[in-house]
Amino acid sequence: MNVLKGLPEATVIREPSDLEPFLRDESHVHGVLPLAVVKPHGPMALRELVRRAKTEGFGLVPRGAGTGKAGGCVPTDRTVVVDFSAWPGDIHVSPQDLCLKAPASAPLREVKAAAEAQGLFYPPDPNSWESCALGGTLATNAGGPNACKYGMTRHWVLAVDALMDDGEIHTFGIPSLKANTGPNLAQLLVGSEGIFGFIVGATLRLTPRPSEFTTLLLPAKRWADLLDLPGRLCAAGFLPSAFEFFDPAVLSELRAHGPEEARRLPGEALAILEFDERGCTSEPFLEALLDLLGPMADGLEVASDERQRGAIWAVRRMTSAFLKERHPEKVSEDIVVPRSRLGEFFTRLEGLGIPSVSYGHLGDGNLHVNLLAAGETEPALLDRQLMVLFRLAVDLGGTLSGEHGIGLAKRDAFLALSDPGQIQILRAMKGALDPCGIFNPGKVI
Ligand code: LAC
Ligand code: ZN
Repeated sequence: MNVLKGLPEATVIREPSDLEPFLRDESHVHGVLPLAVVKPHGPMALRELVRRAKTEGFGLVPRGAGTGKAGGCVPTDRTVVVDFSAWPGDIHVSPQDLCLKAPASAPLREVKAAAEAQGLFYPPDPNSWESCALGGTLATNAGGPNACKYGMTRHWVLAVDALMDDGEIHTFGIPSLKANTGPNLAQLLVGSEGIFGFIVGATLRLTPRPSEFTTLLLPAKRWADLLDLPGRLCAAGFLPSAFEFFDPAVLSELRAHGPEEARRLPGEALAILEFDERGCTSEPFLEALLDLLGPMADGLEVASDERQRGAIWAVRRMTSAFLKERHPEKVSEDIVVPRSRLGEFFTRLEGLGIPSVSYGHLGDGNLHVNLLAAGETEPALLDRQLMVLFRLAVDLGGTLSGEHGIGLAKRDAFLALSDPGQIQILRAMKGALDPCGIFNPGKVI
């Protein structure tokens, strides 16, 4: 593409066959062929890209490692993909300030490892944590099992460096939890999926690294018994660092076709609970937990060493890829239902007759409801089924996405189900921050 000729500080990819890998992320959404893919190596590239996007009338689509699950980095019509994988910068940990600075290109696993090397902890742990880039987790406000106790990516962001409409990189925020100088623009950008500007780096909050873990496999004789446990635990003062589940269908499929470690998983349905506070391996802690579980504790298995803990998590971590391999056309959602209404949700879901299976983050009500037969379902019917699912979550006080975001995959549903006033405000903000509409056009709103 001629308009990218002579772009400074950048690698430009134009060959259609080389553009193919950029058409998709890990959602079911397919993009269109972009005009080009640009890998910027410095600020001059971004400045020029913004200038040329405005004068030539093309859009810019940000991309990290392409592990998103809502089509947020998938190219739309007349766009250039801005791939941040070559964006420069190192990871710097400041133990005194309990924070870490890293570029968008930093692999999340390296960010987490850098914190750990100093005895510190960066909790966000999306399922893709070993392959995703920090920038993508910031743009999408990624979640993960640890969000149950530690919250989402945004709860760990102190400041961001972001490319804005003037073509310059601006820093929003300081490396301190205490900073209270009006509306927080860093937080506006986190989770905005690149529609206001592109995050190129961030300063992240850290906390001392937990060193004691209790990891439990909790089989349920009756699936429904699990559903009030998240609320009961919280009400009794227990806060698991993770509380994951497999419903009966996912558990049977894992047992029948999963890896070796999955073959022996017990129960009709199964929960994985983990605690990481000091004292969580002590007898009094476990006794109090067993008291609370009552008869449910029958069949409870405690991981007695790191190897067992790792084996449990390996099965949980591969579940999404495992189901995808067996049902390549499946659609996976990530609705949220308040903990107190999980039982009601599953009863009503069954009544709706939408063929689905579920697993995910029961402890915070973030459920990966999967429509395995999506590929064989007539598209209009599939859309209706998804709308019914989203409406049910919203009716119960929840929402249509807990951690994957809106992107392209859930845009129509987001627009249909949101308060029109909220959409109007978001569009006004988009108009103010990105008047030419160059940043990730067609996404979210
Ligand atoms: C998971 C991904 C799908 O939790 O978010 O497995
Ligand atoms: Zn998840």
